[in-house]
Formats: sequence, structure tokens, C-alpha cells
Amino acid sequence: MNFTLRIWRQKGANEGGRFVTYEAHDVNPGMSFLEMLDGVNQKLLVNGEEPVAFEHDCREGICGSCSLVIDGIPHGPDHGITTCQLYMRRFPDGATITIEPWRAKAFPIIKDLVVDRSALDRVMRAGGYISVNTGGAVDGNALLIGKDQAETAMDAASCIGCGACVAACKNASAMLFVAAKVSHLALLPQGKPERTGRVGAMIEAMDREGFGSCGNQYECEAVCPKRISVRFIATLNREYLRAGIVESALPSDSESPHAESV
Ligand code: SF4
Ligand code: FES
Repeated sequence: MNFTLRIWRQKGANEGGRFVTYEAHDVNPGMSFLEMLDGVNQKLLVNGEEPVAFEHDCREGICGSCSLVIDGIPHGPDHGITTCQLYMRRFPDGATITIEPWRAKAFPIIKDLVVDRSALDRVMRAGGYISVNTGGAVDGNALLIGKDQAETAMDAASCIGCGACVAACKNASAMLFVAAKVSHLALLPQGKPERTGRVGAMIEAMDREGFGSCGNQYECEAVCPKRISVRFIATLNREYLRAGIVESALPSDSESPHAESV
């Protein structure tokens, strides 16, 4: 198969960028999208040219680092997969494919197709954790959790923090990401001690980092490689409302999350 690639090239965060056209010849239909880019880079290196910088790690849909907008869609035209799980047979032979980085104020471009997604890490640091006593592993049956609850928590926990939801949203909102993290922890007993403070802290961090507001357009769900449902945004909103009620009911001198019983 042969393709014409329009790839965004940008030397650094403060440099201007532009699309550069490359030809990819003799591409095996069984190649992944990233393997096809590897081939392009190999040829660029042989010709003494600068290879295209793009992010990747696991190449099996786990790490969330392969952040490419392909023909205007984060992670490309297929649903429920990451860029590294996309195969070239998905495209018609001879197609022109446009490849861009995630575009969002909170994700500044580092180089070419690589963006800085550390804003998501800082949102996590604001509240996406639990406090546990270190020591021996807890017995598997010590905390009984209902099947529905466990499965819903697992659905939310499958978010890999790729940021495609942000890239797809015209407001560059990180609501689906935050909703997945807040819902996952709110549903499990281990997440209860920090439950009230977590939601507000993560939403504040999201605003601070420059992510926009949710516009209820559902582009985020449409491109999410883990099919995280927008229903978790409703859970996030309920958590936020609940936290406000709990906080207004708490004595003003009490900062302890253990004081809550709701
Ligand atoms: S919610 Fe989906 S699209 Fe957003 S960061 Fe998580 S896995 Fe990626
Ligand atoms: S490289 Fe890890 S999810 Fe694609």
C-alpha cells in the first residue's frame, strides 16, 4: 500500500509549525500506524533528515502515550482503540492521511507530534489518590464489594489518561478524564476517606491547568479508546454536589475527612 502523509512538524514549543508532506511506499497492510511511522522515520534518517517525533511506549493500548490526531480524529477513525492498535489496512490504498498532535492549551507542543500532558498528572496529584497504611497485602475478602459496584468502578478505572477526550473537545475539557478518576475512587471503600475533598480539588486543578468546561457534546466519549461513558460525568457532578452538602454540614473547624458519614 502507498500513502501520502501530511505530518505536523514543529521544532519546539516556541517555534512555528507547519504540515510537511511525505510519501510512504510499500506499506504492509498488517502494519500498525506507529510501525508505518517507524518506516517513514527510518527513511528520513537514511537521508540525513530529522525524524518525526511522536510518543509511544507499550504499543498495546495500555499506556495512553500514542497521542495522534489522524484525519481530525484523536486515535484515528476506529472506535475503542488507541493509535498503536490502528492498522494500515483500515485506510484505502493511495489515501492522503493528515497527522497532528493533540491540540489544547493545557497540552503545549514539545516537538512535532509530542505534547506535554503533565497537566493531567497535576490534576491527579490534586486528589486522584487514596491513603493506605503500608504493610502486608490486605486479604482479598476483607472488603466485600458488590459485583455491579466493582464492575462500574473497573469501567471507570480503565481510563489510561491518554487525553484524547481533551483533544476531541472544542472546549479542551478534561471532564471525562476527571470523571473517570473521581468515579472510580468514589465507588470503592478505599476511596471513601478522601471522597469529599477529592472532587473539588481535582476540578480546581483542572481549571487551573487551563482545561475548558464540559459542553455536553459527547465528543470525548466518541473518541475514548477505553469507551469511558459520559455517564461518569453525571457521577462527577453528583459527587461535586454531595461534597458541597457534606462540607456545609461539617463543623467549620473540622478538616478531617474521617468526620463525614454521608
Ligand atoms: S477518559 Fe478516555 S480519552 Fe479521556 S484520558 Fe481517559 S482513556 Fe483517554
Ligand atoms: S503506545 Fe501505549 S497505548 Fe499506544
